[in-house]
Amino acid sequence: MKITNIGDKKQASFYVATELYKQMIHKKESKLGLATGGTMIEMYEALVSLLEKNQPDVSQVETFNLDEYIGLDAEHPASYHQYMNNILFDQYKGFDSAKCHLPNGVADNPEVEANRYEALLDEKGPMDLQILGIGQNGHIGFNEPGTAFDSVTHRVDLTDSTIEANSRYFDDKADVPKQAISMGLRSIMKAKRIILLAFGEHKKEAITQLASGNITTDVPATILHLHPNVEVYVDDAAMPD
Ligand code: GLP
Repeated sequence: MKITNIGDKKQASFYVATELYKQMIHKKESKLGLATGGTMIEMYEALVSLLEKNQPDVSQVETFNLDEYIGLDAEHPASYHQYMNNILFDQYKGFDSAKCHLPNGVADNPEVEANRYEALLDEKGPMDLQILGIGQNGHIGFNEPGTAFDSVTHRVDLTDSTIEANSRYFDDKADVPKQAISMGLRSIMKAKRIILLAFGEHKKEAITQLASGNITTDVPATILHLHPNVEVYVDDAAMPD
């Protein structure tokens, strides 16, 4: 694993957007693992610019998001469905909505939904390129500290620190769901190539833990050391000393 500071957030975002774009051009039926969160906003904006400028056919591309909150339907403004529609799928119209997948946060039975999503990943995968952010506590997707390295898509109890960190996307902290459905660590590790992005001082501790090389379920992202093709891009503020 290589941790690289390629400049500021804008440059890192443009680089990753270009890698996603190249993947889609190189293979029309690319399978992309997509992430949400504040970290990804500029990256998706750069990707939309590239798509608009070049107008490629992306109708065969299939996307799979990492996670969704339990209890938020696709229309909820803080749902990851809405995030993805607002930032990508409604911006560049070439995607086939039937090929853009997220877990269903309002399924009657979240366990059944998690199993359905994992089966879909098995059937369609592996991802050609998986994009990841990282939580302040080292989570990837919503795999919180302590999650088993062999976990597949599952129902997750969010930690207080994650609820606190994500409360900025909600009117009130009390509105943040307490659970989510997330791809598991084993599901994520099946990707052929993984790129993780982290920006800001508040991510420095998690990146420092990752850079230490110590592999532990206490910092879920450290499982990535066991993958042969992972790149990590950070800005100055998140770069370990
Ligand atoms: C969220 C998401 C993660 C994301 C992380 C960081 O909880 N489930 O996929 O990487 O937290 O979010 P942000 O980029 O907003 O800091």
